[in-house]
Amino acid sequence: MIRKEILEDFIIRNATPDDAIQMEYVQKQCYPSLHESALMNRNHFINHIKIFPEGQIVIEMDGIIIGSASSMRSNFPNHDPTYLEITDNLWITNTHVPEGDWMYGIDIGVLPEYRGMGFSRELYLARQEIGKKLGLKGQLIAGMTLGYGRVKNRMTIEEYCYALEIKKFTDPTITPQMKAGFRWIRPLYNHIDDPQAGFACVLMYLPVDDNYRIEKTR
Ligand SMILES: CC(C)(COP(=O)(O)OP(=O)(O)OC[C@H]1O[C@@H](n2cnc3c(N)ncnc32)[C@H](O)[C@@H]1OP(=O)(O)O)[C@@H](O)C(=O)NCCC(=O)NCCS
Repeated sequence: MIRKEILEDFIIRNATPDDAIQMEYVQKQCYPSLHESALMNRNHFINHIKIFPEGQIVIEMDGIIIGSASSMRSNFPNHDPTYLEITDNLWITNTHVPEGDWMYGIDIGVLPEYRGMGFSRELYLARQEIGKKLGLKGQLIAGMTLGYGRVKNRMTIEEYCYALEIKKFTDPTITPQMKAGFRWIRPLYNHIDDPQAGFACVLMYLPVDDNYRIEKTR
């Protein structure tokens, strides 16, 4: 379990059931274009804390939750389930694999007024630290390509990710994830019900061992 001070006034720590109402608020503020069937509420967060307490993290300042990250354990996926499938319709009860060797990040969000201050970096670092302590290979995420919807008719996600990699332009989600060290593996078409993301995500990994490589696939 984790608890430490960051940027002087903020505490990063594991979530407790008392945080669930505020986590629900963070979720609502962070995903304005996500279909409500994919939005987590307080009961989902309480269940995650019950099932895998180490994997649920919040950042707090004076009792206010300004960011949160939810995770489960998983093996490396050999097919591409949708967001609702991999999260067991957001509950993780049946998809959290207690012996799984990856931390699978199912959500991360920072309140809009606290963005650009390095908080997502801290959440990813804390998640990596927890994964390392548990002896895991690293983190897997389905990064939401929130800028892709705009250019969907002009390029594939592979072309989009390559353009991000060579810094031709930036994406509000994938860019912070790449800056946190994530490398992309493959596009996940029709992964999530969010038109702004072009309904897509990109499977990405952040290994504990920097030399560990996963080939990009289509
Ligand atoms: C994605 C998100 C978590 C990033 O949080 P954040 O705390 O603002 O990110 P950070 O401040 O840690 O930024 C890390 C790096 O990414 C860059 N970055 C952050 N937001 C960016 C943006 N919109 N465009 C380009 N770069 C950005 C920062 O400049 C920083 O780079 P630096 O280290 O070179 O200075 C936040 O924007 C969010 O909650 N978005 C909505 C929910 C979401 O999309 N979650 C992810 C779903 S997979």
